[in-house]
Amino acid sequence: MYTNWEELKQECMLCNKCELGKTRTNLVFGKGNENAEVMFIGEGPGENEDLQGEPFVGRSGKLLDSMLACIDLDRNKNIYIANMVKCRPPKNRDPLPAEQDICINWLREQVRLMRPKIIVCLGRISAQRLISPDFKVTQQHGQFIDKKGTLFMGTFHPAALLRNPNNKPAAFDDFMALRDKINEICERTY
Ligand code: SF4
Ligand code: URA
Repeated sequence: MYTNWEELKQECMLCNKCELGKTRTNLVFGKGNENAEVMFIGEGPGENEDLQGEPFVGRSGKLLDSMLACIDLDRNKNIYIANMVKCRPPKNRDPLPAEQDICINWLREQVRLMRPKIIVCLGRISAQRLISPDFKVTQQHGQFIDKKGTLFMGTFHPAALLRNPNNKPAAFDDFMALRDKINEICERTY
């Protein structure tokens, strides 16, 4: 249990609790306002993220930032972005369940300290882990689910939107619903 963000981050940055620690260039702890009311959770660092130590800085990150901007969200101001695992899986494979099981403890501490009102899961990996094991993004995206007072919503992963732009309108609908929900329940995001 950590009492503050800096202590948590310092300890996490040294982590070698799973195999992914051996092959990383940089650990990607997360980026944004640690007092935010809205948190976004992706899958894991890719090549660019591993090199720069920041989440979503490649092509999918550019798309994410532009979608966020549409609803006045900005990683440098009013949200926080993290991933299910903090070190890059080799060749961008899915993080293994065992790796997620270990790494999720860091994320749990981040959530515990931040106490976000809304958590947005970007893609299947985080949605199945944080919302429900059989979550289907194509069918359940955009729905808000209350878990112990925190609202969870799953939507398309930006990399999936780059591969399949047909889903972009649906993803934008999810972001509009998110904006409405923020207006309804958040006090200091907008
Ligand atoms: Fe530690 Fe997570 Fe990196 Fe594994 S992926 S070494 S658990 S920070
Ligand atoms: N994809 C993710 O899931 N997370 C990142 O940080 C980058 C790409």
